[in-house]
Amino acid sequence: MTWSVEVRRAPDPGRLAADVREGLTKTPVEIPPKWFYDEKGSQLFDEITELPEYYPTRTEAAILTEHAAELPRVGTVVELGAGYSRKTRLLLESVQPSLFVPLDVSEEPIREAAVRITRDFPAIEVRGIVADFEDELAPLPGADGARMVVFLGSTIGNLTPGPRAEFLRRVFRATAPGDLFLLGADLVKDPIRLVQAYDDSAGVTAAFNKNVLHVLARELDLDPGALDPDDFDHVAVYNDVDDRIEMRLRARRALVVPLLGLEWRISAGEELLTETSAKFRVDGLRTELAEAGFAVVTTWTDAAADFSLTLARRL
Ligand code: AVJ
Repeated sequence: MTWSVEVRRAPDPGRLAADVREGLTKTPVEIPPKWFYDEKGSQLFDEITELPEYYPTRTEAAILTEHAAELPRVGTVVELGAGYSRKTRLLLESVQPSLFVPLDVSEEPIREAAVRITRDFPAIEVRGIVADFEDELAPLPGADGARMVVFLGSTIGNLTPGPRAEFLRRVFRATAPGDLFLLGADLVKDPIRLVQAYDDSAGVTAAFNKNVLHVLARELDLDPGALDPDDFDHVAVYNDVDDRIEMRLRARRALVVPLLGLEWRISAGEELLTETSAKFRVDGLRTELAEAGFAVVTTWTDAAADFSLTLARRL
């Protein structure tokens, strides 16, 4: 079969600068988690998924393996934030769509996935899209039959409630009545286990968190040494009011960082917020989905109810 890639969003170097400028106006200062994922950061995230403490990836894969055969057949599978589409292969084997649409901000994994999937699944056409899931998603390509939009890995956890509701509405607008939405979401659990999952003993998550400082220094052309990751400690805390893990970088001393034509002053002990990773309840997910126009068909979890996979139908 054929494959193609449509670039809806070209890489924009001004975007990081704009995000940093905006983040500096907030208390605490925020750096959006999407900037973790340069080549090094993507590699560190891959390592995270293999850590004994980081249960989400393997638990979701186990749920998917166990229940893939129960998924309905559809004409098109659209995967948001697809990356290399590793877990998706399980799904494609069962769902047997005629069209697969991986969508991701970075082009390289999409191309790789497109080549591999057309090779391994000769009956599936691949039409990749380079876009941000924070952009409008419509129009989505479609073959005959229903679509299934897939959003795995609890990536939805990076969105706070307002942007999350907007995201779900974008999925709604990009789909038709009867289309399906398959959502992987991490569940509320013992805070000790949650914190361990984001503060592993090997220090991989700490390196992943600090990597965003390397990204900033490189992409914003900071003077060498102006922003030294060794001046920060990795912090992971569970916020049980908002049901989310917060990753922060805590300054070990007062710093003045020349960047974007200004002097960024950081006090000793100040914490930059680099990621929020929301944890969900099955009922809460059902309500959020209903508010966006989706009716839950089934929720699967592992035996320990650590992670959930929800299949919903677009109304
Ligand atoms: C890719 C957003 C799902 O929140 O668990 C892992 C990212 N950050 N360890 C998550 C992450 C630190 C991950 N998501």
